[in-house]
Amino acid sequence: MTKKAANEKESTGHLSRRSFLKAVAGGGILLAGGGLWGTFQRGVFSTGKGPAYTGWKEWAARQTAGRQPESGLASAILASNAHNTQPWLVSVKGDTIDLYMDLSRNIGSIDPFYREMYISLGCFLENLHLTATAQGYGWRETLHAGDFRQVHVARLELSDRPLDAASHHAALYDAIPTRHTNRGAYDTGRPVDERLLRELSALQDGSGPRLHWWTAEAHRQQVGRLVIQATEAIIADEVQARDSHRWYRESWDELQLRKDGTTLDATGNGFLIRAFGKLIPVSEQTAHDYWLASTRDVQVPTAAAFGGITVPDPSDRRQLLAAGRLWQRLHLSAEQLGLAMQPLNQPHERIDRERQLGLSPGFSEAYSQLPGLSGQPCIFTFRIGYPESVALPSPRRGMEEIQVHG
Ligand SMILES: Cc1cc2nc3c(=O)[nH]c(=O)nc-3n(C[C@H](O)[C@H](O)[C@H](O)COP(=O)(O)O)c2cc1C
Repeated sequence: MTKKAANEKESTGHLSRRSFLKAVAGGGILLAGGGLWGTFQRGVFSTGKGPAYTGWKEWAARQTAGRQPESGLASAILASNAHNTQPWLVSVKGDTIDLYMDLSRNIGSIDPFYREMYISLGCFLENLHLTATAQGYGWRETLHAGDFRQVHVARLELSDRPLDAASHHAALYDAIPTRHTNRGAYDTGRPVDERLLRELSALQDGSGPRLHWWTAEAHRQQVGRLVIQATEAIIADEVQARDSHRWYRESWDELQLRKDGTTLDATGNGFLIRAFGKLIPVSEQTAHDYWLASTRDVQVPTAAAFGGITVPDPSDRRQLLAAGRLWQRLHLSAEQLGLAMQPLNQPHERIDRERQLGLSPGFSEAYSQLPGLSGQPCIFTFRIGYPESVALPSPRRGMEEIQVHG
């Protein structure tokens, strides 16, 4: 454990004199900056509260056996998903769930080929599967191949005959309501044991997407450099920068209304920085500068290792759905092992952008030269490590809000 983490741990319950003075000074500045009413209105003291967060709180109450598909959907809405766009719509008839992609939630030039949308929908499906398994259900699943013209992605027909094959992932179900993306610093004094990486690798299904680890210092530097360069390239690309920022929820009211998007509370910052950010809105450029700084100075250098997921053919969306299912399992398992994870998809967003605009394939070529990928395209990158701080929840729309009727 680093000195900073140790200090934080030691001070739990007993504020040191220095922390106390800092807190008093910070509180004074906060009140001066926003006024008491302003601090409440802008959510300074409401982290994780309000209608945008009820999905996490109500999960347990919705897990009543015999109440599928309701309990499955209560889990599915909590799945990992790109930019917290929650690009899913469902139609429920009896025990049949039809899953559709919500094209209005595409991230534009960040995701021109729907790679991230399909991976997100795969995460949604994995939580559905885990919940059905946990409650003793089986299912027949039809995955529709095809591109964005086919918005119907999958049909799940539940039955009360459990499937044997799915049961080895069943324990992950318990982590569904506590899994959160951790964007803070990870403990650089604590590498992740090979044994744990092997345990995570065992979550791959036989013929599905492959998982690769980059643990050696030189390889981590190689991946980290690409992540930082891709972040710079996105910020320098006016259209991509704007499409990304569109999902950032700066106002507490908007966040509670829309119940989606990326938020200050999920940035991995401590209370005071988040509080100031809520009270004193920053420009889009400042938000980008901050994003680059935290990627370059915190997220990349404190990663204990990077992981990458490959599929043979990214144009087959069933493979991207399977990649999403694998990512969801990895993140749930990490949560149970006390490990933190964060996707870092900037290089893939640039690879897609190069293809969309016919630019020179710089990131695509650099990625194909990373060690261990066995010639398959990598479509998702993440970092792993031991957390230095607790990750906070992101907003979610309720399951009633994602259903289409008729
Ligand atoms: C396909 C995909 C791409 C993602 N890319 C990033 C990323 O580049 N950077 C990041 O911080 N989080 C990324 N995430 C994590 C999402 O932002 C996160 O899941 C979402 O905001 C919801 O928050 P939660 O995971 O804490 O519930 C990605 C997730 C998915 C499924």
